[in-house]
Amino acid sequence: MSSTAENVQEEIDLGPANKVIDKYLTMKGALMPVLQEIQEEYGYIPEPTVHLVAERLNVYSSQIFGVLTFYAQFHLEPRGKYIIRVCMGTACHVKGAGRIADTLEERLGIGHAQTTEDLKFTVEHVACIGACGMAPVIMVNDATFGSLSVQKLDEVIVKYKAMD
Ligand code: FES
Repeated sequence: MSSTAENVQEEIDLGPANKVIDKYLTMKGALMPVLQEIQEEYGYIPEPTVHLVAERLNVYSSQIFGVLTFYAQFHLEPRGKYIIRVCMGTACHVKGAGRIADTLEERLGIGHAQTTEDLKFTVEHVACIGACGMAPVIMVNDATFGSLSVQKLDEVIVKYKAMD
């Protein structure tokens, strides 16, 4: 995965990031909206864009990394097209979330906060997502799947694996 990450870093086109910065250049407090839009453009915040933002907004890169690591919404690594959130809240835990998480790890070969090499899936274990009545629950992007059994989980995985 590390060689893939290095290749990704080298291929970063800074054009979209420059466009985002152009938009906010004269605005006070531009850092957060700039970082949010850069993440929307690339799906994460590539390291070269951090240095670009630092240079153009006249802030230290270390300050930007501080912001990026403080706010959970920002990601410094590429993420999968499909983000699978496995609820590990109390209701889901009681109804077998651990087995769901283990099965997912077996099927995809990735655990919490990891991304498949083909950048298709990222798995995240999260706190209650507010659907306790359907425990155990996972979300794939915006879609919720509840009352999961291993068999039902397998059906969800097969469905998303077949999608582009
Ligand atoms: S504990 Fe899982 S949805 Fe609430």
